[in-house]
Amino acid sequence: MRLLRMVMIQGMAWLLVLSMPLGLLTGTLLQILLVQTTLMVWDKKEKSERWMHLALSGLLAWQLSIPASVHAALYDALIFAVLWLIFGAVDQDRVPLYLSSRLACECLEQQLPASAKIWVDLGCGNGQVLAWMASRYPGISFLGVEQAWVPWLWACWRCRQLQNCTVLRGNLWNISLASADVVYAFLSPAPMTALWHKVNAEMRPGTWMVSNSFAVPDVKPAQIVDVGQTLQTRLFCYELGRS
Ligand SMILES: C[S@@+](CC[C@H](N)C(=O)[O-])C[C@H]1O[C@@H](n2cnc3c(N)ncnc32)[C@H](O)[C@@H]1O
Repeated sequence: MRLLRMVMIQGMAWLLVLSMPLGLLTGTLLQILLVQTTLMVWDKKEKSERWMHLALSGLLAWQLSIPASVHAALYDALIFAVLWLIFGAVDQDRVPLYLSSRLACECLEQQLPASAKIWVDLGCGNGQVLAWMASRYPGISFLGVEQAWVPWLWACWRCRQLQNCTVLRGNLWNISLASADVVYAFLSPAPMTALWHKVNAEMRPGTWMVSNSFAVPDVKPAQIVDVGQTLQTRLFCYELGRS
């Protein structure tokens, strides 16, 4: 309601100003005057709204002052920045953001070895798997690593009250898996061979890698768990040092 009113006031003032043959500076000043007077007459209580209108007037004036080509470039840059913040370097990793289902979480829970002390989600997205597991197993330490800023922030927020859960922002290829008992990955076919080399080089024999949907080429899993969804999701479970 408040937003609608702001847009209406700004819109009416700008329509009026743009219909007059005024320079940018005079137009902007007149627009600010119109908006502030409207607010004073219409709603005396909302002082904070006046500052928002002032900022909006300045922003609109600045936008009108820049050439259309620069404008388009700025919007392109903005869209690129937003996509990068949400999806990270998808072009390099070839791993998009999609999330494990609730059913997959339940199956993961059943795959948890009794002796597990450290469980890692490589590319933890918005942290939903981490939070699900960490809230059920307070005696186990959970670690998530995520390279994209928005999912990472979301994961931190989601896990903020879970003492046994840490969410790192960074590249999964740079973290050591030496102390992990189980690593979970829901990535894509592209990095599976490299991931297999990494887990074998760093993890102890008898520990586990569980991959959602994507098998390691030419390696036989110790177990395949059918999650039982319409997408026919499967968890490929590899016991290291034994495959
Ligand atoms: C398919 S999503 C899975 C999210 C979560 N694990 C789940 O199961 O719901 C894969 C995630 O891995 C992240 N990712 C891809 N490459 C990565 C890398 N090199 N380092 C850290 N995270 C990465 C992506 O940003 C994305 O959020």
